[in-house]
Amino acid sequence: MRTPLLAGNWKMYKTTGEARELVEGLLRGLGDVSDRRVLVCPPFTALQTVRDLVQGTPIALGAQDVYIEPQGAFTGAISPVMLRDLGCSYVIVGHSERRAIFGEGDELIGKKVRAALAHDLTPILCVGETKPQRDAGQAETVVVAQVRAALAGMTPEQISRIVIAYEPVWAIGTGDTATPEDAQAMHETIRRILGEMTSPNVAATINILYGGSVRPDNIDDLIAQPDIDGALVGGASLKADSFLRIVHFLPPQR
Ligand code: PGA
Repeated sequence: MRTPLLAGNWKMYKTTGEARELVEGLLRGLGDVSDRRVLVCPPFTALQTVRDLVQGTPIALGAQDVYIEPQGAFTGAISPVMLRDLGCSYVIVGHSERRAIFGEGDELIGKKVRAALAHDLTPILCVGETKPQRDAGQAETVVVAQVRAALAGMTPEQISRIVIAYEPVWAIGTGDTATPEDAQAMHETIRRILGEMTSPNVAATINILYGGSVRPDNIDDLIAQPDIDGALVGGASLKADSFLRIVHFLPPQR
């Protein structure tokens, strides 16, 4: 029902030459991935290089951020039209680094989700609590509020076209992954909220990814959880062998 999605978020890594090397390595080892979807999200500056390499292959292309207008006097910004022009089909929106370092709030993030959808880009909406919020027992409240705020006023049809990534902030880049059970509990909550905003049937079709220190040695246990439909991978997506092992996760025996 939901095809697993394995997405690499390269963050601010990889020059064009390094990007080429990584993608060539991925293509060499990819093999048959017809039962899953594979996505790489390079920095803007490497999109063209990667596009030329992945065209006609099973690897899809995404960006790490987008602005909300199609064009205009917005120095430094990149529009959804430009991303489509470069062959992107996905865009990450509201990553915790955009929220914390660049000051993005729920309102702007919601507009980015809409702008992406309006231009046929699949937004990967990132949500997640900080360590103090989890320790204070507020993880669920925070994540639910982020989901509701970003998707407020959207139609079930619009919501059905997004991907959610649950990325606890304390797990990103730290080596400290959520346990499969804790991640599953949050994914279940997110799907319930999506069901309230659409219908349980629509919510059952939406991919909810886990992100935060996903590695070759924990992907199988994470993806074995019923509501974990893939992964958004940072550090471990920067090397072909580790990302390939994640892409080649062993399907759960259900
Ligand atoms: P990480 O990053 O895999 O390096 O923890 C994940 C992310 O930020 O999307």
